[in-house]
Amino acid sequence: MKCTVRIGNLEKYKHTCIVIGIFASRRLSPIAEKLDKISDGYIRSVIINSSMQGKIGQTLLLHHVPKIFSKCILLIGCGKKRDINQENYKKIIYKTIQELNNSGFTKAICFLTETPVHIKGCNVYWRIRHATEVTHDAVYSFNQLKNKKKLPTSSLHSVIFSLSKNSELSIGTHAITHGLAIAASIKIAKDISNMPPNICNASYLATQARQLSEEWSQKITTYSVGEKEMTELGMNAYLAVGHGSRNESIMSVIKYSGALDPKTNPIILIGKGVTFDTGGISLKPSENMDEMKYDMCGAASVYGAMRVAAELNLPLNIIGIMAGCENMPGSYAYRPGDVVTTLSGQTVEVLNTDAEGRLVLCDVLTYIERFQPNTVIDIATLTGACVVALGHHMSGLFSNYNPLANELRAAAEQTGDHIWRLPITEQYQQQLDSSVADIANIGKKYAGAITAACFLARFAHKYHWAHLDIAGTAWHSGRTKGATGRPVALLSQFLINRANRVIRSS
Ligand code: BES
Ligand code: MN
Ligand code: ZN
Repeated sequence: MKCTVRIGNLEKYKHTCIVIGIFASRRLSPIAEKLDKISDGYIRSVIINSSMQGKIGQTLLLHHVPKIFSKCILLIGCGKKRDINQENYKKIIYKTIQELNNSGFTKAICFLTETPVHIKGCNVYWRIRHATEVTHDAVYSFNQLKNKKKLPTSSLHSVIFSLSKNSELSIGTHAITHGLAIAASIKIAKDISNMPPNICNASYLATQARQLSEEWSQKITTYSVGEKEMTELGMNAYLAVGHGSRNESIMSVIKYSGALDPKTNPIILIGKGVTFDTGGISLKPSENMDEMKYDMCGAASVYGAMRVAAELNLPLNIIGIMAGCENMPGSYAYRPGDVVTTLSGQTVEVLNTDAEGRLVLCDVLTYIERFQPNTVIDIATLTGACVVALGHHMSGLFSNYNPLANELRAAAEQTGDHIWRLPITEQYQQQLDSSVADIANIGKKYAGAITAACFLARFAHKYHWAHLDIAGTAWHSGRTKGATGRPVALLSQFLINRANRVIRSS
C-alpha cells in the first residue's frame, strides 16, 4: 500500500475517489463546502435527501457529481465536530479505507487528514502517521493458508493524504516514513502470530530472526540458544517448560546496533514465545484452546519493534529476545511438584505447569544480565487474570522504576496502544512462599496478574525493568479470531521517543 502526502488540489485527481467528511446534523466540512459550491449545491442536496446524517462511520458514495472530474466522492460521517478524539479519528479513517477497498477503488485522495478540527495532543505528524497505520490495518487479512484466496477485492493500493499548507509537507513526509515502517512491522508481527502452532514453533521464530538479520545485515545480527546450550548454562526453568514437547526450545537473540557509541548499554526487549500452551500436565480445558497458539504474541511484538528500529535507523542499541518453546503434556513433561533450579540459582517449586510463561521468562531475565542493560522490558501473554482485571482495552504494566513506567505510559497515550499500571508491592510477594523451594510458581486465588509480575520481579533486581501483560490485548477471540499486532505500536513509540532524546542531546 502506497501512502503519500500532497497539498490537496481538487481539480487534479480525475481517476481517483475523493474522500471528504460530513459532520453530525449534516454539517459540511470546509472541503465538502468547496465541492458543494463547484457542483452547484449538489452535495448538500444529495445529503438532505439521503440517510447520511454525519454519524461516525456512516458512508455515502456519490458517482458522476456535476462539474467534478474525479470518478467518485465518498462522504464519511465524522460525528460532532467537538467530539473528535484520537480514537474516533482512527475509526473514521478505518471505515473509509474498508469502504474504498470493498468498493474496488485502486486509488483515493483523502481530505480527512486536513480536517481543521483540533484533536487534543495531535499535530500534523500524528494525524498523518496514524492515518498511514490505520490504512494498513484496515486492509490486513491473513489468507496465506487458504487455497481459495479471498477474492482480490483488496484492490486499494494508493492513498494520498491531503494537507492544507505547504509548510506541513516535510513533517507529513516524515510521518509517512514512520507510519509505513510501523505498519509494515505490525503486519509481519500479525502474520507470525496468526501462523498455526504446527508451523510456528520455536525453530520457526528463529528462522524469522535470521531473516531479519539478512534483510538488515548492516545493523542486525542474530544467534540462537538451543537446549544443549541452555543445559550448559543452567536455564532449567526454561528447559522444564519445553521438555514435554518434541519441538526444541530455542531462544532467539536479535542484536540491533544503531547507537553512535557502540558501547552504549542496550535496551532489551524480551518476548514470551510459547508457540502453543496446552497447560502441560495441568492441562487447560479444551474450549478455545486453539487460541493458545497466540501465546507467542509477545515474541512477535519484539520482532516487530526490532524491525521498526532497523527500518528507521534509530540511534540506539537494542537487543530483542524471542523466548520460544512449547508447553505440552507427555511422559517427558515437567510435573506439578517438581522443583527446578533457575539460572539465577533461586529454586522454584512448580505447583501448576500452566504457569509456564514466568518460568521461561525468569531465566531470560537472568541471561540478559550479561549485556549490562540500560532498560529491560518483557512482553508476555502471561495471565488470564490480567484479562479479568483490564479486559481487552489495556495491557497491564508493572515496573520497578517509576520513570520507565511513565515513559511507557507516555508512549501509550501517543499511540492509543493503552496500558494501565498495577502494583507489585511486598504484600503480594508473600503469596509466592513455598514450603520446599525458594519460590512457588503460583500465588493464591486472587490478583493473579500481580503475583505473576511479582514472580518476575524477583529476577529483575539488577536493572530498570518493566513487564507488559498483553493477555487481553494481543488478539481478538472467536470466529473472526486474529492477532492485533499490539503492542508493536507502543514499543515503537517508546523507542522513537528514546531516539529523539539521543538526537536532542547530541
Ligand atoms: N498463556 C496463559 C495466559 C492466558 C490465558 C492468556 C488465557 C490469555 C488467555 C498462561 O500461560 C497461563 O496459563 N496462565 C495461568 C496462570 C495460572 C495457572 C496461575 C492462567 O492465567 O490461568
Ligand atoms: Mn499457561
Ligand atoms: Zn502461557
